[in-house]
Amino acid sequence: MTAATVFESVHIELAERSYDIAIGAGLLDRADAWAQLPQAHAALIVTNGTVAPLYAKRLQDALKSHYLNIHTVVLPDGEEFKSWQTMNLVFDGLLGHGCDRKTVLFALGGGVVGDMTGFAAASYMRGVPFVQVPTTLLAQVDSSVGGKTAINHPLGKNMIGAFYQPERVVCDLDTLATLPARELSAGLAEVIKYGPIADMTFLDWIESHLNELLARDPQALAHVVKRSCEIKAWVVGQDEREAGLRAILNFGHTFGHAIEAGLGYGEWLHGEAVGCGMVLAAHLSQRLGLVDLPFVQRLTRLIGAAGLPVRAPVLDASDNVGRYLDLMRIDKKSEGGEVRFVLLDGPGRALVRAAPNALVREVIAAGCA
Ligand code: NAD
Ligand code: GLY
Repeated sequence: MTAATVFESVHIELAERSYDIAIGAGLLDRADAWAQLPQAHAALIVTNGTVAPLYAKRLQDALKSHYLNIHTVVLPDGEEFKSWQTMNLVFDGLLGHGCDRKTVLFALGGGVVGDMTGFAAASYMRGVPFVQVPTTLLAQVDSSVGGKTAINHPLGKNMIGAFYQPERVVCDLDTLATLPARELSAGLAEVIKYGPIADMTFLDWIESHLNELLARDPQALAHVVKRSCEIKAWVVGQDEREAGLRAILNFGHTFGHAIEAGLGYGEWLHGEAVGCGMVLAAHLSQRLGLVDLPFVQRLTRLIGAAGLPVRAPVLDASDNVGRYLDLMRIDKKSEGGEVRFVLLDGPGRALVRAAPNALVREVIAAGCA
């Protein structure tokens, strides 16, 4: 990045749904980061009780010259609130303020706020524009990009939702300074994910710069946000609605979603469950002869060093493996009741396929604490 360009930009090419991701330090306060916003009379910022006191005023100020009326809805904070009831608060705000179908929604927060705001935008008056303003590492490297929006159902994670692309994504890297360390690690899980599935050079880079990332070195964070968004843009640009390729972005998620739903949403962070899920999925790949044990061990070491759990929790003392299998059947990749896993097909490549039940059972039994 040169002084003249001010901030980096990654383009998502999706024909008429294309958009840019702006990435840089201090973007909340930079007028040029907020160019090309959808025009409307009103904007509604959706955020939560943790993020609002930190950043809502600055976003309101940034939007003042664009919109006559700027409203804000503050949601309760937590994965356990990613629900119909909470999303209804967004509709209450939109209708209560008389918002029309041009009103622009701004999602200010992590993936929970982003996924719910996107789904609300997809549904309100059958679709209004929205902009992602991600403030967690996980949201900047993954959830704000690509248009997956959803809420949870008690029986399954992200089961109710829509594909609905934002008009723009603005990642202010400075917001990561206030992120709790545990949340930073959770975001690193989704960063690490891109290496084994798509880019071994990136995996090497993450390994050799992990200490800088954990210390929040601005340049290291800028690099991983940009590279992650580039890889995600490349995948989503080819397969927006997950007809095939896009499923590789769910590496670790089949096991991870079972952990989240099995423990109760919010007990383990999403990134923690994905980190541990990647360890299990790598072991399953190894047992299928797709990748060798030293690579699985290398990946496990990196995930652990990033501050993430590598042993899966026991979900049911009487039939733990059975509980995992039941939970994993409720997965968007399942077909005809058969669970399909994202597996490593050698380092840097992934595929999606079913696996023999006996091997899955062995992996869960061996991987649980
Ligand atoms: P989150 O949204 O719960 O945010 C984590 C915590 O950090 C929250 O307590 C939040 O209030 C707080 N926070 C946010 N920004 C902060 C900041 N700058 N400073 C201090 N605190 C801050 O969790 P997440 O990890 O961002 O997102 C996880 C969610 O994203 C899950 O629901 C997951 O399903 C979803 N997800 C979606 C996609 C997608 O493609 N749509 C991809 C990955 C994950
Ligand atoms: N996070 C997975 C996806 O966007 O497809």
